[in-house]
Amino acid sequence: MKHIQENSAYQLSGLISAKFGLNFPKERFRDLENGLNKAKKDFGFDDLVQFVDWLLGIELTSAQIEQLASHFTIGETYFFRDIKYFNAIEKILKEELIPQKSNLDKRLRIWSAGCSTGEEPYSIAIMANRILADLKDWNITIVGTDINTKSLKKAQGGIYKEWSFRNPPDWLKADYFTESSKGSYQINQSIKDMLTFQYHNLAIDPYPSLINNLFAFDIIFCRNVMMYFTQDLMSIVIEKFYHSLNDSGLLIVSPSEASHILFGAYETLYYPDVILYKKIRTDYIPEKLHQIDKENYFHLDKEIADYDLFPVQKKSKKVNNAPKKIPQEIEKKVYKRIDISFSQTAEPMENAMNLFKSGHYDEAEKLLKSILSSDKKNTGAMSLLSNIYGNRGLTEEANTWSQKAIDADKLNPEPYYLQAMLLQETGKTEEAAARLKKVLYLDSKSVLAHFGLGNLLFKQGKISESNRHFKNVSKLLCDYDDNEIIGESDGITAGRFKEIINKIIEKNYERVH
Ligand SMILES: C[S@@+](CC[C@H](N)C(=O)[O-])C[C@H]1O[C@@H](n2cnc3c(N)ncnc32)[C@H](O)[C@@H]1O
Repeated sequence: MKHIQENSAYQLSGLISAKFGLNFPKERFRDLENGLNKAKKDFGFDDLVQFVDWLLGIELTSAQIEQLASHFTIGETYFFRDIKYFNAIEKILKEELIPQKSNLDKRLRIWSAGCSTGEEPYSIAIMANRILADLKDWNITIVGTDINTKSLKKAQGGIYKEWSFRNPPDWLKADYFTESSKGSYQINQSIKDMLTFQYHNLAIDPYPSLINNLFAFDIIFCRNVMMYFTQDLMSIVIEKFYHSLNDSGLLIVSPSEASHILFGAYETLYYPDVILYKKIRTDYIPEKLHQIDKENYFHLDKEIADYDLFPVQKKSKKVNNAPKKIPQEIEKKVYKRIDISFSQTAEPMENAMNLFKSGHYDEAEKLLKSILSSDKKNTGAMSLLSNIYGNRGLTEEANTWSQKAIDADKLNPEPYYLQAMLLQETGKTEEAAARLKKVLYLDSKSVLAHFGLGNLLFKQGKISESNRHFKNVSKLLCDYDDNEIIGESDGITAGRFKEIINKIIEKNYERVH
C-alpha cells in the first residue's frame, strides 16, 4: 500500500485541524492516512497520493469539508451513556431548573453538541419526558448537532440496533421504542418530535447565534467530542459555550476530556463521580478563559464599579455631573482585558459591535447604554442590545429593546427581524412570519428574511411557497462574493449560504416530485 509523504501529512494535519479542529499529531499520522484512504473514493480517486495532491491544491468548499469530515470522526455512542451524568442532570432538573422555570416561562433549551447518531439527545428527550408530568405545557428545545452528515441522517431516522443499547435502563426499549424489524428499534414519534438535528461545525460555524437557534441554552452536552480537538480549539469552544449558555447554565463534558484549567470562568459542581461546569454570571470578561484568576477579576470589578468606563460624551459641563475620571492603572487593566475587541480610537458603535462579536456582552451592554444616554435615538445601539439579550435568553429584555428600535424608526428592518427570531423560538410561528414579511416589505433583498420565511413555511408544510423564498435567496446570493459575510448572520459567508440553500432546494424538489 502506498503511504503519503511526511511533509504532506503535516500539511494535511494542519488542514484538518483548521477545518474541523481535529488533532492529528505525528503519532496519529497512521489514523490520518486511514481516514484519507476511506475518503478518496467519495471524491472519485483510487490513488491515495493523487488524492492528497489534489486535496492540498484546492480551496475546500463547505460541502467538501462536510464530506471529508465523516472519515475522520469517531461516532461511538449509545443511549444513556455514562448514566451517572444523566442521574446528576435529572436531580438538577427536578430540584432546581424545573421548579425555577415552572414559575417563569416553562422554557428549557438543551444542546447536544457532537451528537453523532443521536443516542445522546434522544436520551435527554426521554429523560425530560419521564420527569415532566405536564410536558405539553413546556416549550422544550433539544438540538443535536454534528459535522458528520451520515450520522445526522441516522439520527433523524431514529432507528437503532442492539449496539446502541449497551447497559440501558430496564424500561428503555419497552417504553420508548417499537421493534421495526428483527433487531431494529424505532424511537417513538412523540420523542422524535421533541428534537431537531442540524449540521454544525464547532470549529468554524457561528455560535451563539439566533439564526441557527444555538443560543441561551440551559444545558450543553459536549461529551467525547473535544478530546479530539487541538488545545487552542478546546479553549475557544469552551469560551463560545460560555456565551451560548443562559446565565447559570450548565456545560457537561466527559471526564478527562479537557484540562480543568480551561474552565476557569465556570463554577465546578461535584456530584458522585460526576463533574459539571456552571456558568458564573458576573461582570467580568472571560477574555482568555484559561488565564482567568477569579480573585483578581472580582476584585477588579469592585474597583471599576464606580467609573463610567465608556464616557461617550460628557453628559454635562458641570464638574459634579461629569463621569469620574478612571485612574490610569485601572484603565490599563480594563482595556488590557478587552484589548482584542476594543480600540480607543474607533467609533463607539464599532467598538460595541466588536465587543459583541467577541462575546464581551457585559462590556458591549455598558457601552451601548452609555451611547444611548447621549444619543437616545440610536436604533443601531437598541438593536444590538436586543441581540445581546436574545443571545443570553433574556427574551423580554430583547423584545423591549427591539420594540424601542421600531418605535424610534419604523422603517428599519433589523429590529423586526430580531423580533421574528425571538417569536419563532417561543413557538409563535404566525407572528414570526408576519414580522419577516414586514422585513421584506421594507427590504425586499433581505437574504435572511427570505431564508427565515422559507424555513417557517416549510415547517408549516407549505413546500412550494417555501421554495419560492429559498429560490429568492439563491438569486440574491449571486450578487455576493463567496467569502462575503451576510449582514446580521453572525458570520455566515455567502458561499456557505449558497451550499445550504442548494441542498434545501434539491431536497424540496425531491419531496415535491
Ligand atoms: C464519540 S462521538 C460523541 C457522541 C456523544 N456526544 C456521546 O458522548 O456519546 C463524537 C462526535 O463528535 C463529532 N465531531 C467531531 N468534530 C466535530 C466538530 N468540529 N464539530 C461538531 N461535531 C464534531 C463527531 O462527528 C462525532 O459524531
